Amino acid sequence: MTASYPNLRLRRTRATGWSRALHRENILTHADLIWPLFVTDGSGVEQPVASLPGVSRWSPDLIGVRAKEASALGIPCIALFPNTQPDRRSDDGAEALNPDNLMCRAIKAVRDACGADIGILTDVALDPYTAHGQDGLLDHAGYVVNDDTVAVLVDQAINQAEAGADIIAPSDMMDGRVRAIRMALEMGGHHNVQIMSYAAKYASAFYGPFRDAVGSGGLLKGDKKSYQMDPANGEEALREVELDIAEGADSVMVKPGLPYLDIVRRVKERFEVPVFAYQVSGEYAMIEAAAAAGAGDRDALVLETLLAFKRAGCSGVLTYHAAHAARLLRG
Ligand code: PBG
Repeated sequence: MTASYPNLRLRRTRATGWSRALHRENILTHADLIWPLFVTDGSGVEQPVASLPGVSRWSPDLIGVRAKEASALGIPCIALFPNTQPDRRSDDGAEALNPDNLMCRAIKAVRDACGADIGILTDVALDPYTAHGQDGLLDHAGYVVNDDTVAVLVDQAINQAEAGADIIAPSDMMDGRVRAIRMALEMGGHHNVQIMSYAAKYASAFYGPFRDAVGSGGLLKGDKKSYQMDPANGEEALREVELDIAEGADSVMVKPGLPYLDIVRRVKERFEVPVFAYQVSGEYAMIEAAAAAGAGDRDALVLETLLAFKRAGCSGVLTYHAAHAARLLRG
């Protein structure tokens, strides 16, 4: 039941700033943000990523500095992605299991810099470590095999947990990996290490700059369509989410972000679990390109797109704009 014009004028509550503030349904804060950071080898190294203006790869010592910055801004969690040197990549991605790999050194650097003040999310998938750039192991026909890959992902997750990761985020889209990782974490005594599964991850054209950033773009032949989801599908995303929750995921992620807000909303309504979205590299690049072209105000685009995730039902958002947005939000 509702009144009608002129008794009802929806512009009435919009007329002043105080009233808009009072009627605001959703709010974005620094505590909604997860900041993805790229790691490279060395010390004191910053390497700008050409396709992501404003984003750099940092050596582990400087990742520690970035994490402190995040913590000071009230960003609760960072996500780490390694740019593994080409000579440490192999067909089986064995470097993922090295306890002294770039990822593990970065985790320790963040822990040394910030203690327990910040959450460390780590990506589980083999693409930063494989010579072919796929997320898993290939058979002779070039198909990414599921079960053998899951066995390696379990070891990768344990390696990260032992280095100090707080949230394991499997981004590989293999079947059954959440249960396998959860069981291994429990057996290893990592009861409080969370799993945020990339539950509905699409085979998207928006990942290009990320692949440059981790150095797998030039290596990857073909696509990831035999494991990442078809952008045409929505019901299948709900099945993926249902499975990952049943297997022990603490939270689920939808990725990419803005083009898939319908999926976020459906997941939230159906399952009532914590849902996150990844505003991916191509989305970031689009905003930066629009701002550079004078097609929109950068700060306004950043805040509006991030708020849209909250409205859709997200508990939080992974975004390369996290530090900038946190600064804007804190005034
Ligand atoms: C690795 C992974 C990807 C992203 C996050 N983890 C790339 C891919 O699946 O090819 C993309 C993130 C981004 O584009 O910002 N499995």
